[in-house]
Parts: sequence; structure tokens; C-alpha cells
Amino acid sequence: MMEEVVVVIVGGGPAGLATAACLNRLFIPNIVLERDDCHAPLWRKRTYDRLNLHLGKEFCALPHMPFPDGTPTFVPRVCFMQSASLENDGRWRILVKDTTCDGSEVYVATFLVVATGENGEGFIPKIIGLDNFQGEYMHSNRYLNGREWYGKNVLVVGCGNSGMEIAYDLSNWGANTSIVIRNEVHVVTREMVLVAMHLLKFLQVELVDELVVFLSRMKYGNLSKYGLSRPKEGPFSLKVKTGRSPTIDVGCIDKIKKGEIKVFPAVYSIKEDKMIQFEDGREECFDVIIFATGYKSNVLNWLKDYKHMFNEDGMPKKSNPNHWKGENGIYCAGFSSQGLMGISYDAKHISDDISLALSSKEIPSTFAPLNLVDD
Ligand SMILES: Cc1cc2nc3c(=O)[nH]c(=O)nc-3n(C[C@H](O)[C@H](O)[C@H](O)COP(=O)(O)OP(=O)(O)OC[C@H]3O[C@@H](n4cnc5c(N)ncnc54)[C@H](O)[C@@H]3O)c2cc1C
Ligand SMILES: *[C@@H]1O[C@H](CO)[C@@H](O)[C@H](O)[C@H]1NC(C)=O
Ligand SMILES: *[C@@H]1O[C@H](CO)[C@@H](O)[C@H](O)[C@H]1NC(C)=O
Repeated sequence: MMEEVVVVIVGGGPAGLATAACLNRLFIPNIVLERDDCHAPLWRKRTYDRLNLHLGKEFCALPHMPFPDGTPTFVPRVCFMQSASLENDGRWRILVKDTTCDGSEVYVATFLVVATGENGEGFIPKIIGLDNFQGEYMHSNRYLNGREWYGKNVLVVGCGNSGMEIAYDLSNWGANTSIVIRNEVHVVTREMVLVAMHLLKFLQVELVDELVVFLSRMKYGNLSKYGLSRPKEGPFSLKVKTGRSPTIDVGCIDKIKKGEIKVFPAVYSIKEDKMIQFEDGREECFDVIIFATGYKSNVLNWLKDYKHMFNEDGMPKKSNPNHWKGENGIYCAGFSSQGLMGISYDAKHISDDISLALSSKEIPSTFAPLNLVDD
């Protein structure tokens, strides 16, 4: 079977759905392809139960989908999923690859929108001996809650938003919890981030950084004796330069200060059985390791002609704000490390650009369809 469509969107998460919504408003036919069995699977299946949006709702609304009145400022994961599916109901077709039969479908599209996300795959670092670890280990995208690990020794690797929140959650579930903090990190509260994001609209980033660091110091004091040190560069300058976000504390720091969560430096190797050796020479036994070590793009696994748009890491070659448009009718939504706010921006620009191209008939008649390969 082969079908011709104007736009194919690969990925049915927030970025893919937002782009489809914008295209629908412009009456541009499009199809969303999703490898999972539902839309927004990251939010349904691969995020922990206790997650709320970290950013205030005014920074997380998708195009044409304002949150209903009465939605809390920090939207619970469940409400976010529902607001994504509401608009979507009956209006977007999400095709599921049926792995139970050998049937395959081919679409030929004038435009391709890559919306498979910066979180396409969980990233687990290479650690000597990990293959022989006798306990259980997993990426943070498989962690839902700590119910199974009451009284067990659990190590969380990574001190970003996921790592700190999962460590806190595990400790609440009664696991004997430790966390590996290898990098310098800015610890802030979500209220500080919310204020900062409003101030960033009219103040320079350096000023906002100074304020946030001041507030953080007032709240947390000097955390270096607990193994946490602050980067020299401010939290939002770092975000702009590296894409790395400050860590929003949900209660982990308090538990670290009380000794309820133990801090370790980087993992050096995994020795026999369940024994983990750290870079300072300490050795401890753990039943479970949760790797909150981030994600990587999966674009190179399925997009053969990626060079029209992406580099070898599967991230856009052009930097923000020009990242969303490639050559030969390829676009990407959700690759600017600006979360849902960046996704809204991308979706609007992409749909407007496709609309313009269609109306001015700039589409080359010899347009060669991009090669999609399955992983
Ligand atoms: C734990 C966590 C919390 C976050 N909290 C916030 C927050 O509070 N505020 C905020 O603004 N941002 C937040 N983000 C960042 C970002 O907004 C989310 O990651 C968001 O889901 C990104 O949307 P997306 O559509 O780009 O990617 P995804 O939600 O990852 O969607 C990509 C989709 O593509 C599908 N797919 C992948 N490969 C293929 C393929 N080959 N074929 C077909 N389909 C494919 C996937 O199954 C998935 O459905 C958070 C991220 C994480 C991980
Ligand atoms: C809890 O974990 C720490 C760090 O691994 C370990 O030193 C301690 O013995 C553990 N406590 C119990 C009761 O197992
Ligand atoms: C924090 O404390 C450590 C010693 O515990 C000290 O070396 C460091 O200078 C302090 N940092 C600040 C910003 O005061």
C-alpha cells in the first residue's frame, strides 16, 4: 500500500500533536505516526507517578489548548495528559504499527515533521561491570514509584530533575536511598523558577541569575558539605548556553541534610555481585540502580537522510531560533530544549511555513521523498 499525503508527522507526543493541531487549523492535511500504542506515551507510561509539570501552566500550554479555568499552577501529570487528548479526540489520526501482523504502510509526504523528541531513548552510561550486576537496574523512564523497594538499598544515579525527585520519592516509599551527585548543580524551587521566567521577559539574564542564586543561597545555605556545589555560571545563562536546566528541589535537599538520603560521588565500577565502587574508593552494596542520566534523540535510528536537518547526535544542526526548519521540506518540533514552551513556538512556525509554501507553490515538482528506515 502506498498513500500520498501532504504532511507526515513522526511522533505523537506534545510536539507532534501541537504541530498537527496548528496544521488542522490551517486545513492542511497531515498524518501523525506513533510507534507506541497511545499518544503522548512519555506522559502516560514513562514518567513517575508523582510528577507535576515543573514550570507554571502559563509556560506549558500548547497552541489552541489553554488549560481550563481552575487548573493548578503546577499541573499534575494526569491533567496534562487529559488536556492533550481532549482536543485530539477524533481529529488526528494516529497510526500504530501493528507488530502482530506483517502489514506495512507507506506514505509519501511533501513535508516531514520530526517530533520524536529529545527524550526518544533513555541514556545509560557505560560502567565497568554493569552487565554482571546481580541486582536490578533501569532507566528513570521506567520508574513509576518505589512500592516494590521498601527496605531495599537503592542507588539513584544523576542529580537533575528526575534523579532528585525519584530519590525523594523512593525515600518516601521506605527505600534506603542514595544518590550519585557527580556534577555541579544549581538547586532552586519551582516558585523561584516561575518568578525568574516572568522577570526574564524584561530583565537581563545575568540579573535574574543573581537574584535566583541569592534566593537559593538564602533558602538552602552552603550545600558543599553535603556533596553539592554550585556552578560558577548562573542557572539561566547555563540553560541558554548548554540546554541544561537547574534542578528543582521537591524535598530531596531536606532529606539529604537530615541524612535520610545519602550522597555519593560518581560510580567507578561495579564489582562482584551487587557491590558498587565509587570514585572516592568507597564500596557499598545496592539492590537496585536507577539511572536518571538523561535521554538522547533517536532520529538516527529511523531517518536515513537526516543530514538535511540533524547532526550526528540526532539534534538539529541550526541553533535556536532557526533550528526548526531544514532543507527539502523537513522540519522538527520539540528539539530546542525549551520544553513545552519551545514546542508551541515550533508548532506555530512549522505550520505557518508549510502553509506559506503551499500557497506560494514553492514546492519543487521533482521533490524526492525522504527515506525512512525502520529500526
Ligand atoms: C520527566 C520529565 C518531565 C518534564 N517536565 C516538563 C515540564 O514540566 N515542563 C516542560 O515544559 N517540559 C517538561 N519536560 C520536557 C518536555 O516538555 C517533554 O519531554 C515533552 O514530552 C516533549 O514532547 P515531545 O513531543 O517533543 O516528545 P515526546 O513526549 O517524547 O514524544 C515523542 C513521541 O514520538 C514517538 N516516537 C519516537 N520514535 C518514533 C518512531 N521512530 N516512529 C514513531 N513514533 C516515534 C514516541 O513514542 C513519543 O510518543 C519534561 C520531560 C521529562 C522527561
Ligand atoms: C543504607 O544505605 C547506606 C549506603 O549504601 C548503607 O551504608 C547502609 O548500611 C544502609 N542501611 C541499611 C539498614 O541497610
Ligand atoms: C562553602 O563551604 C565550603 C567549605 O565547607 C567553602 O570551601 C566554600 O568556599 C563555601 N562556599 C561559599 C559560596 O561560601
